[in-house]
Amino acid sequence: MMQQLQESTDHIKKIISGFEPEFGIILGTGLGALVNELEVVHSIAYTDIPNFPVSTVESHSGKLIFGNLAGRRVVVMQGRFHYYEGYSMEQVVFPVRVMKLMGVKKLFVSNAAGGLNPSFNTSDLMVITDHINLQPSNPLIGKNADQLGPRFPDMSDVYDEHMVREAMVIAEDAGFAVQEGVYVSVPGPMLETPAEYRYLSIIGADAVGMSTVPEVIAARHMGMPVFAVSVITDMCTPDRIKKVVLSDILEAAAIAEPRMTLLIRELVRRA
Ligand code: HPA
Repeated sequence: MMQQLQESTDHIKKIISGFEPEFGIILGTGLGALVNELEVVHSIAYTDIPNFPVSTVESHSGKLIFGNLAGRRVVVMQGRFHYYEGYSMEQVVFPVRVMKLMGVKKLFVSNAAGGLNPSFNTSDLMVITDHINLQPSNPLIGKNADQLGPRFPDMSDVYDEHMVREAMVIAEDAGFAVQEGVYVSVPGPMLETPAEYRYLSIIGADAVGMSTVPEVIAARHMGMPVFAVSVITDMCTPDRIKKVVLSDILEAAAIAEPRMTLLIRELVRRA
């Protein structure tokens, strides 16, 4: 794996010749507009990067975009990999590990999620303060890559407290409210039954989604500080469960997107 990571990193470095991203950004479903705020310097299709997982479903649209955001050098994953698509956990987190090898110092992640906390509303932002991993596996299973991080990485402070607090200040200054809470990651791709939503709420989750935790585990394994935010796209409390279709999720995400974009851009500016 290390050899594959190095090969991919070397290939990318050759293309971006001298551009050194400081921060990595992974954008969730329906939350890609941040890319429009980038001064793009390089864009590389996943298909052009050796060893990179390639989407078999989405007509090969994934790209790594390198550019300047709020005066800082960033690399953005346009299109992420989900376990439910059939990728291994190692493939899901491969780009995060490449980011680290490229010199990325902090990771910013967004996702679309269902709201379990009854005080939330559709299109709220929830800054993630902790997580529960209910994915059937995780990216650290197998022989440990000691060059990347320890065998038993500590998980007592996964989400960077300083960035969480800063996000609150940024939101307040911009005049909007943000929630805070625990994100639970499930494999999907089906949404949950009412009994499953109830269970996820009882075990301590405020929002549920199908991504983020694998990438965050890989990032923390390598010692990268992480900031992550969920956009609540549907409410999943017993009285508010509705049939959800992708278009509803995208619609709710679109409403929250400008706030999420501002939050990440300003955090990057201050990082
Ligand atoms: N469950 C799981 N993932 C989701 C949901 C949900 O209700 N909404 C958006 N992503």
